[in-house]
Amino acid sequence: MNHLQPNQRQALEDAARQACAHAYAPYSRFPVGAAVLTEGGRIVTGCNVENASLGLSCCAERTALFSAVSQGLRRIAALAIYTPTATPTLPCGACRQVLREFAADCLVISLCDGEQPLEKFLEFLLPEPFCAQKPQEPGA
Ligand code: THU
Repeated sequence: MNHLQPNQRQALEDAARQACAHAYAPYSRFPVGAAVLTEGGRIVTGCNVENASLGLSCCAERTALFSAVSQGLRRIAALAIYTPTATPTLPCGACRQVLREFAADCLVISLCDGEQPLEKFLEFLLPEPFCAQKPQEPGA
């Protein structure tokens, strides 16, 4: 599902913008909001959550993705990311790889307060992902 309905797209973008209000970014002062749209049409949000031990911080995209997966929602159709900046922000490499786990391809929309949104497909952002062989399920 790579062609979003206009109302779905609007809802996804609004959700990413709203999620940014919850960002916990006292160290970088770079708040980020993210929202994922599942193939079933559900929207799940996330924000970046930093920590005094900086390496423990988590990006907004991964917060949203892990929240979706922990609700049993594993098929991602689109992701929107919002930063209150003049230019759009694309997901970092780690988040691209995590997104790839739950979407062979998906639309990534980057929104900001200045330029027009950037739209890229995950296949373009991460053309050659790491793919480990999954161990066989017992009895499969
Ligand atoms: N950050 C995200 O939330 N998403 C990205 O794709 C890149 C970076 C966060 C991590 C950290 O809290 C802050 O932005 C500055 O790097």
